Amino acid sequence: MAMLEVRDLEVYYGVIQAIKGISFDVDQGEIVALIGANGAGKTTTLHTITGLINAKSGKIVYEGTDITKIPGYKLVGMGIAHVPEGRRVFATLTVLQNLKMGAYTRKDKEEMEATLKMVYSRFPRLEERKNQPAGTLSGGEQQMLAMGRALMSHPRMIVMDEPSMGLSPIYVNEIFDIIQKINGDGTTVLLVEQNAKKALSIADKAYVLETGNIALSGDAKELMNNDQVKKAYLSE
Ligand SMILES: Nc1ncnc2c1ncn2[C@@H]1O[C@H](COP(=O)(O)OP(=O)(O)OP(=O)(O)O)[C@@H](O)[C@H]1O
Ligand SMILES: [Mg+2]
Repeated sequence: MAMLEVRDLEVYYGVIQAIKGISFDVDQGEIVALIGANGAGKTTTLHTITGLINAKSGKIVYEGTDITKIPGYKLVGMGIAHVPEGRRVFATLTVLQNLKMGAYTRKDKEEMEATLKMVYSRFPRLEERKNQPAGTLSGGEQQMLAMGRALMSHPRMIVMDEPSMGLSPIYVNEIFDIIQKINGDGTTVLLVEQNAKKALSIADKAYVLETGNIALSGDAKELMNNDQVKKAYLSE
């Protein structure tokens, strides 16, 4: 059994069908990439998994539990954390306050402090800037904060929506390095990216979404060499 099983998922916005019956698996310990062009349905898929949108039909099973109708705030307690598209840090709160918001499901203060230490060790820049309002961080630093905030819930699975969006190449590399390290610590990663090249380079397997359908799927390294993928997603 996979850690996350998505089966025949269909999602509508009003009468418009955004997701047209997709199925995919994320295994424990993997990095799985979901790639595709603007409007393909990547964010919609993540929002359906994290309980922000309801599916019209189909099923999402996480660690053996049907979570299709479970709201987002409960999923955090079940070990799923979401790093949203566009970061969405709380601009007027400090870095530290933002991080603490990510730990709202945690009761044990000592455990929370230990996680905070772990997050600071992954993101030393956040510790340096812990008292700075989040809105004044650079784009790359805000991305780090969004990731750090998600880690504060000590997730078993982290889903990230376009972490490289709008970042300079150096930051992109740094963010992807950190994603690999987070995965190395044992956290399963579902990664949505338009930067297919980088996503495929760190993923175990990948799914290519095209207008609400999975057009291609397979081993990430094999997809990197697939002519169709090269032509549509890897040429710059
Ligand atoms: N709230 C909404 N109401 C109506 N249509 C929506 C809504 N959100 C998304 N859509 C539509 O659903 C489709 C999929 O959008 P989605 O945001 O999932 O794409 P995406 O793959 O994440 O794209 P991008 O790479 O640009 O972030 C698009 O056609 C979009 O216009
Ligand atoms: Mg999106």
